[in-house]
Amino acid sequence: MCRLAFSTLLFTLFVAAAGAQSKPSGSLTPQIDAILAGIRAADKGQLAVSEEDGRFLRLMVATRAAKSIVEIGAASGYSGIWLGLGARESGGHVVAIEYDPRRAKEAASNIARAGLTDVVRVVPGDAFAEIPKLVGSFDLVFLDAWKPDYKKFFDMVYPRLNPGGVFLAHNVINKKSEMEPFLKTILNHPGLYTSVVSPGSEGMSISYKVR
Ligand SMILES: C[S@@+](CC[C@H](N)C(=O)[O-])C[C@H]1O[C@@H](n2cnc3c(N)ncnc32)[C@H](O)[C@@H]1O
Repeated sequence: MCRLAFSTLLFTLFVAAAGAQSKPSGSLTPQIDAILAGIRAADKGQLAVSEEDGRFLRLMVATRAAKSIVEIGAASGYSGIWLGLGARESGGHVVAIEYDPRRAKEAASNIARAGLTDVVRVVPGDAFAEIPKLVGSFDLVFLDAWKPDYKKFFDMVYPRLNPGGVFLAHNVINKKSEMEPFLKTILNHPGLYTSVVSPGSEGMSISYKVR
């Protein structure tokens, strides 16, 4: 290939990649887009995951074909909506647990406005008390609660994670120092394949339970 053609090809690939980044695939309806933007605008404590992490959660649920999904720490439902969109694709169901009663109400209302009540159930309460009440085992668990509790939550949920299931945890980069025992566990666990990715800047661990 001559040098000019090769440069043109490289330029085209670069433009395509840049375009893909600025316009993420998987369009949202204008209604869901507006609901997500509204949650973010009202989120003074910056509790919600980034949009990139939300998109990643949706992708994980869909690509794992996850049926039984649990979220620990739902806040006002931002990540719950992304998980619910994935569950709509996978034919799954999400249980989103939130300790703060006011936030749990907001989450339920936002999920209803997003038209996802048939796939996402918001459970108000302490996840340490609510998880044992859930029936069955889990295909995908997303943990985004108080960071020092991460190891305790992992130890509680791991026996109920299906082989081939995934355990995702948020903030493993920007709040790494608050969860050292958890990170040590998942990175050295003989029954897991673990990777840390960073779709946004907060960091997400993905641990696959080996069959
Ligand atoms: C970072 S926010 C979650 C944000 C949410 N995942 C999102 O992206 O929209 C953490 C939430 O976890 C909740 N939380 C903390 N400990 C909890 C527990 N033991 N059980 C249930 N929720 C808990 C807090 O009340 C808070 O709303």
